[in-house]
Amino acid sequence: MTQQSEAPSPSVADTVRRDWWRDAVIYQVYPRSFADGNGDGMGDLQGVRDRLPYLRDLGVDAVWLSPFYASPQADAGYDVSDYRAIDPMFGTLHDADGLIRDAHDLGLRVIVDLVPNHTSDQYDWFRRALAEGPGSPLRERYHFRDGKGENGELPPNDWDSIFGGPAWTRVADGQWYLHLFAPEQPDLNWENQAVRDEFRSILRFWLDMGVDGFRIDVAHGLIKADGLPDVGSAEQLKLLGNDSMPFFDQDGVHEIYRSWRQILDEYDGERIAVAEAWTPTVERTANYVRPDELHQAFNFQYLGTHWDADELRAVIDVSLAAMEPVGAPATWVLSNHDVTRHATRFAHDVHLGTQLREAGDRELGLRRARAASLLMLALPGSAYVYQGEELGLPDVVDLPDEVRQDPSFFRAAGQDGFRDGCRVPIPWTREGSSYGFGSGGSWLPQPAEWAGLSVEAQTGDPGSTLELYRAALAARRVHLGPEAGEELRWLQLPDGVLGFVRGDLVCLANTTAAPVRIETDGRVVVASSAVPPVTAGLLDLPADTTVWLAR
Ligand code: NOJ
Repeated sequence: MTQQSEAPSPSVADTVRRDWWRDAVIYQVYPRSFADGNGDGMGDLQGVRDRLPYLRDLGVDAVWLSPFYASPQADAGYDVSDYRAIDPMFGTLHDADGLIRDAHDLGLRVIVDLVPNHTSDQYDWFRRALAEGPGSPLRERYHFRDGKGENGELPPNDWDSIFGGPAWTRVADGQWYLHLFAPEQPDLNWENQAVRDEFRSILRFWLDMGVDGFRIDVAHGLIKADGLPDVGSAEQLKLLGNDSMPFFDQDGVHEIYRSWRQILDEYDGERIAVAEAWTPTVERTANYVRPDELHQAFNFQYLGTHWDADELRAVIDVSLAAMEPVGAPATWVLSNHDVTRHATRFAHDVHLGTQLREAGDRELGLRRARAASLLMLALPGSAYVYQGEELGLPDVVDLPDEVRQDPSFFRAAGQDGFRDGCRVPIPWTREGSSYGFGSGGSWLPQPAEWAGLSVEAQTGDPGSTLELYRAALAARRVHLGPEAGEELRWLQLPDGVLGFVRGDLVCLANTTAAPVRIETDGRVVVASSAVPPVTAGLLDLPADTTVWLAR
């Protein structure tokens, strides 16, 4: 890892630390739920802009914004109808420009979401493809097919949509089109040159706007197997992530990323891309971050691991080992806008998955979430923090069905798709309309107890989760910068305890329900719950607690 040669500057415009992204902490902003600048109940770019100093003070390196492009919002903006325009509900291009400039002035980098697997059904190409009918060259930019059966009344193959139901919808002239997600999100045909050219141009548009990188939505989905063969299973969704699928992780995607890398490298300032790539193995994920492809890939195996020392150690080892041969940094993530927040996942003793509708034991969940976050922030590589996790927010598991907006909830007839629970707007103040989110209420209702979880309520309280994150991120800069290297050395510890040395820090995590006595030395730098000092070479590490010790 390269040593930082120049003095840190408050502005990324002035100085670019080489490889800044290899150990960056990247904060995910979900624009509709972060802060509402114009009081319409929906978050927007002005709201984000106003709160950038909060993110600078929190101590993150970069902000990743989920989509804010023009969109009919069939899937909360992951259905884009104009990749070069801002949806009026979020603001204007002028606001985006101001946001990028302000962020840079504060030393924060900006990563935007790119949605290349599908467009909105309101995208100009798709509307024209529908209007022009079978045989139109615009249909070639999507996957239009005739159906099976005597009258073409059956879908062209057996693929299921990730959101439930068939992945094909029939149009008035009898043809079918493919949509791996909602029907309002038709899949693009990436074998088509016009599609490739358009996205290279979109990349340049945002790079010219000054963004520092892209999060690539469904990066594993762009190429489909030749001839669109059947999966041959009625339980396809259960196979996702474990088995190879004809619509995911096809080798052809890598050529696309190699061409994008060339574009990123043409720009100064180390612009990056991070893949949302669901593949059957971490080794397959590593293919997306070979030196001439993307820079990072999300580590969903880590996100899917329960609070258990053995499981965590195994996934950490596998993740580091998989990235090593390709030279990419590992990444770590515990929450995002698609899964139940980790404070709620860990509130259950058994691992129930990442789509929950039960609150569990809130106190336990929060205690473990804090410990899990502190462990994550000590690991070598880059860490992703989802807005609100620094407040210890739980999922809102009891949203009334009538306020839900997640399309997968409706496609799965209410059996799945509880993603709205992690998308409830952030509480900033103890009082006021929507606890300071904005002056005009909030598009999803916030629980009354969130007043006590607001930024205002937690600021200055040394026991709060917000102050824990602030302290951890400050200590990370001091102890776990580039000089700490990208390796860790595991320690032999009692069952249920995980620990390693990095740089001059020892990180110890007790995942059990009882305190454990550990032989160690060092001074407590930060801890996820109150820990006694190390005395005569011994530390009584409380249950469900992580501590960083400096030696
Ligand atoms: C992954 C995004 O994170 C999710 O929110 C979205 O629904 C799908 N991709 C489809 O774009």
